[in-house]
Amino acid sequence: MPFTPDSELDLLFPASLISQDLKSQLHPDVHIRPLASTDHARGHLTVLSVLTVATDLGEAAWTAQFNAMRAAPQTYYSLVIVDKHSDRIVGAGTVFIERKFLRGLGSVGHIEDIAVDKQQQGKKLGIRIIQALTHISENIGCYKTILNCSRDNVPFYVKCGFEEKECEMAKYA
Ligand code: ACO
Repeated sequence: MPFTPDSELDLLFPASLISQDLKSQLHPDVHIRPLASTDHARGHLTVLSVLTVATDLGEAAWTAQFNAMRAAPQTYYSLVIVDKHSDRIVGAGTVFIERKFLRGLGSVGHIEDIAVDKQQQGKKLGIRIIQALTHISENIGCYKTILNCSRDNVPFYVKCGFEEKECEMAKYA
């Protein structure tokens, strides 16, 4: 598939929120942009499946979820890295903005669902995704950006400038 430029896509949030500096640090074979309404067909779920179960309920269901996220403005910032030769997604990540009553009605950025295609790991795509999401979180005015990860991934996030703080609790339904 030929590469689709941002101007031909229906994006989740304005592409201008992604740091220009960061774009220039990416390899010329790849492009970073907000998630687009047609990204189901570019392998979004395939990339996410390196992280955990990403059951494909079909394009219509995926698009309904995209539209629900977009209907909550200034909340979901999901971005992708696309291989310009194949127009396929090779990396993905999200920062979700939580509005608070404390800290003077402050906001917190929660980084979620970071995934890089197995063939593309180790090429600095992961760190660029984290830098792009942190930049968005900080530009929106979040007083902190946080995430949960496995112990194995701690060294990666330390390289991205994060530090260990407190602990994660979970209760699955
Ligand atoms: N342990 C130690 N160092 C690591 C690890 C690791 N697990 N992963 C990356 N690094 C280092 C790299 O060696 C590199 O170091 P350098 O700058 O000294 O060369 C630096 O971190 C940056 O690495 P990238 O090349 O940007 O990492 P990559 O593109 O492979 O992305 C990621 C890392 C996202 C963890 C990827 O391997 C992946 O998708 N893994 C499977 C899914 C996953 O675990 N996702 C994270 C879940 S946590 C969450 O979503 C909040």
